[in-house]
Amino acid sequence: MQNFGKVAVLMGGFSSEREISLNSGAAIVAALKQKGIDAHPFDPKEIPLEELKKQGFQTAFNILHGTYGEDGAIQGALEVMGIPYTGSGVAASAIGMDKYRCKLIWQALGLPVPEFAVLHDDSDFDAVEQQLGLPMFVKPAAEGSSVGVVKVKETGRLKSVYQELKHLQGEIIAERFIGGGEYSCPVLCGRGLPSIRIIPATEFYDYEAKYNRDDTVYQCPSDLNEDDEALMRTLAVKGAQAIGAEGCVRVDFLKDDSGKLYLLEINTLPGMTGHSLVPKSAAQVGVDFADLCVEILKTAHVG
Ligand SMILES: Nc1ncnc2c1ncn2[C@@H]1O[C@H](COP(=O)(O)OP(=O)(O)O)[C@@H](O)[C@H]1O
Ligand SMILES: [Mg+2]
Repeated sequence: MQNFGKVAVLMGGFSSEREISLNSGAAIVAALKQKGIDAHPFDPKEIPLEELKKQGFQTAFNILHGTYGEDGAIQGALEVMGIPYTGSGVAASAIGMDKYRCKLIWQALGLPVPEFAVLHDDSDFDAVEQQLGLPMFVKPAAEGSSVGVVKVKETGRLKSVYQELKHLQGEIIAERFIGGGEYSCPVLCGRGLPSIRIIPATEFYDYEAKYNRDDTVYQCPSDLNEDDEALMRTLAVKGAQAIGAEGCVRVDFLKDDSGKLYLLEINTLPGMTGHSLVPKSAAQVGVDFADLCVEILKTAHVG
C-alpha cells in the first residue's frame, strides 16, 4: 500500500451541510484506520487550517461539503500550503458549485441539459413562462440541498417567486420541468459506476426527502435498460471531464417522458455516510466502503 503518511480527514466545516460532513468524515476515518492508514478527523471550524502543517499532516482527505469545502476555497488554501488533497481542484470545485456556469460549459460541449433561462429584475417573466411552460423549476445557481428550489405551477407566479429567491447565492435560473424520473451516476477516477434511481415520496427531491424522511426510495442497480445505463455513465464521465472534476463525483440526471436523459447538476464532493449513494453504487461493482475510501485517497494531489 502507498504510504500516505499522517492523513487529515477534513470534515465538519462552516456550511449548512456540516452535520452530514461530520457523519461522512467519521465513517471515512474508521474505514481508513481499518486499512492501516494513520487517519485523523480534522474540523477546520474547530482548528485553524494552518495547524495541518504544524501537526505533521501529509495528506488531506476532503469531505467538507458546501461553502469553503466544496467551492474551491479550501482547495486553494491547501494548494498554497502544498498539502496534497483528494478530489477536484480549485476551478472544477468552483464551477461545480455554480449550476449556471456548469450548464453553460455542458451546453457548449453538446451535453444535454434542461432548457433554462436566467432571471433578472427586468426579465420578461411572461415570455419565460411561454418559453419553458408550466410547471417549471426555479432555483438559485449556487445553493444546494434543494434550498430555494421551487416548482412553479401557476400562471403569473414566476415574478414573485423570483423576488423571493433573488437574495440567495448565484443567478436565479428557471428550468423546463423534466418529469420522467430522477437518477444519479457516480464517477470514480474517470470511470462511470452503476446509476441510482431516486424516487422521492414528496413531489420532488426536496430538503425533507433528502435528509429528514425515510421514505425516499433509492434503487441500485436502477431501472435503466442496458443502453441507457451505458449512455448515462458515458454522459456522467463527460460531464465530470467537462469541468475538470477529479476523484469521486456524482452527476445527477433527469429523464423526460420520452426517455431522453439530461444532466441536472454535478456534486464534486458527494456524501460518504453508510447511507450515501456513491458507496451503494460502488458496492455493486465489488468496491466496498473501505476500498472506496482508499481509491479516493490515492487521488490526493496538489497542482
Ligand atoms: N428541471 C427540473 N425538472 C424536474 N425536477 C427538477 C428540476 N430541477 C430540479 N428538480 C427537482 O428539484 C431537486 C433539487 O434541484 P437541484 O437542481 O438538484 O438542486 P440542489 O443542488 O439543491 O439539489 C431535484 O433533485 C429534482 O427533484
Ligand atoms: Mg440536486
